[in-house]
Amino acid sequence: MIIGVPKEIKNNENRVAVTPAGINEFKRQGHTVYVQKQAGIGSGFSDEAYTAAGAEILPTIEAVYAQSEMIIKVKEPIESEYPLIKEGQLIFTYFHFASSRALTMAMIERKAICLAYETVERADRSLPLLIPMSEVAGRMAVQEGAKYLEKPMGGCGILLGGVAGVKPANVLVLGGGIVGTQAAKMAAGLGAHVTIVDISLARLRHLEEVMPANVDTIISNEYNIKELIKDSHLIIGGVLIPGAKAPSLITRDMLKLMRPGTVLVDVAIDQGGCFETSHATTHADPTYVIDEVVHYCVANMPGAVPYTSTLALTNSSLPYALQLANKGWRRACQENAELKKGLNMIHGQVVFKGVAEAWNLQYTPLEGLV
Ligand SMILES: NC(=O)c1ccc[n+]([C@@H]2O[C@H](COP(=O)([O-])OP(=O)(O)OC[C@H]3O[C@@H](n4cnc5c(N)ncnc54)[C@H](O)[C@@H]3O)[C@@H](O)[C@H]2O)c1
Repeated sequence: MIIGVPKEIKNNENRVAVTPAGINEFKRQGHTVYVQKQAGIGSGFSDEAYTAAGAEILPTIEAVYAQSEMIIKVKEPIESEYPLIKEGQLIFTYFHFASSRALTMAMIERKAICLAYETVERADRSLPLLIPMSEVAGRMAVQEGAKYLEKPMGGCGILLGGVAGVKPANVLVLGGGIVGTQAAKMAAGLGAHVTIVDISLARLRHLEEVMPANVDTIISNEYNIKELIKDSHLIIGGVLIPGAKAPSLITRDMLKLMRPGTVLVDVAIDQGGCFETSHATTHADPTYVIDEVVHYCVANMPGAVPYTSTLALTNSSLPYALQLANKGWRRACQENAELKKGLNMIHGQVVFKGVAEAWNLQYTPLEGLV
C-alpha cells in the first residue's frame, strides 16, 4: 500500500504519526511510505532519519495526500486539509467527530474512509489508542503540579517529597483510572503522601494491592472529598464517565475549604473538567487563580512532551496501521473487531452511531458494508 504521513499543522501540534522505526516496519512488509518534509522535526526525528529507514520525503502536504492510499495522522484534518482528501482514501487519525460538525460534514462530503483512533476498542471496552495519552497526562500532572506548588509559581511553597524531618505534601487524586494510577505512582515515587478516590471499589481494591505504602485509597463521595481537600496541597482530577461531561466533584464554594496556594490540575478538562471553576487553558498560559487556588487546566497536556507522546502513541497505533496496510481496511476490519470499532465513516456514510446522533445525521449500520 502507499502510505502518507503529513506534517501536523494544527496549532502547537508537534507529534508525528509514524516514527522512523515505524517506517522500517512498513518497508519490511513491502509498503511505500511518503513522509512530508520536516514532519517529524517537532518530535526529534529528522528527514534524514526517515530516509535512512526507507521513507521518501515529499516537499508539500498536497503531494503527500495526492499520492497516498492511506493517510496516517495524529490530529483531525483541519480546514485547509479538507480539499486534499480524496474519495475512498483511508484516513487513520484522532477525529473526535462529536466535537466538530464542520469536520463531520467535510469528511462526509469528501467520501473518505475515516477510522478514528479514539473509537478503536478492545473487547474489555478499553480504548487502546487513548490509553497512551492518558498515561502521559497522568504522569505529567504531577510534574506540572510540583512546579506550580513552588511559591514563585503561585503555589503554597511545599516540596512534594519533603525532606528528613519535614512532612511531604499531600496529593489527592480524583479517579483511579489510567490518569489517576499514573499520577499516583509518580507522586508516590517523589515521596508525597497520596490518596486516590474512586467510585469503583473493585478499582480501589486493585490499587490497594499494587500501590506503594504511601498511597491510600478512599471511596469517592462528596463528604470524603470535602474532608480530604482541606489538607491537600495538590489535587489531580482524572475522573471519566464515558461519553458524558465529567462530574464537578469540587464546586466553587469548596475552594474556600482549601489552604491558599493549593494547586488543582484538571486533566479531565477535555471532558469539561471535574472542578466547577475549571476552564480550558493552553501551554502558553496554563494557569489562573481563583480564591487563592491555582488552576492548571491544559486540554492537550501530552502536546508539551511530543517526543514521549509520539513514541507512546505510535507504539499502540503501528500494529493497527500495519494490519490496515497489509490487508486493506475492509479485510483488516473484518478480521479485527477492535479496528472495526474505529470505523466512523465509509464513503460518505456515517457508520458510528454516536457521531450520527451528535449531529442528527443518518446512521448506516456496518452490517453489509464490511
Ligand atoms: N488534559 C489532557 O491532556 C488529557 C490527556 C489524556 C486524557 N485526558 C482525560 O483524562 C480523563 C481521565 O482519563 P482516564 O484514561 O484515566 O479514564 P479512565 O476511564 O481510565 O478512569 C476514570 C476513572 O474515574 C472514575 N470515576 C468516575 N466517576 C468518579 C467519581 N465521581 N469520583 C471518583 N472517581 C470517579 C472511574 O471509576 C475510573 O476509574 C478523561 O477525561 C480523559 O479524556 C486528558
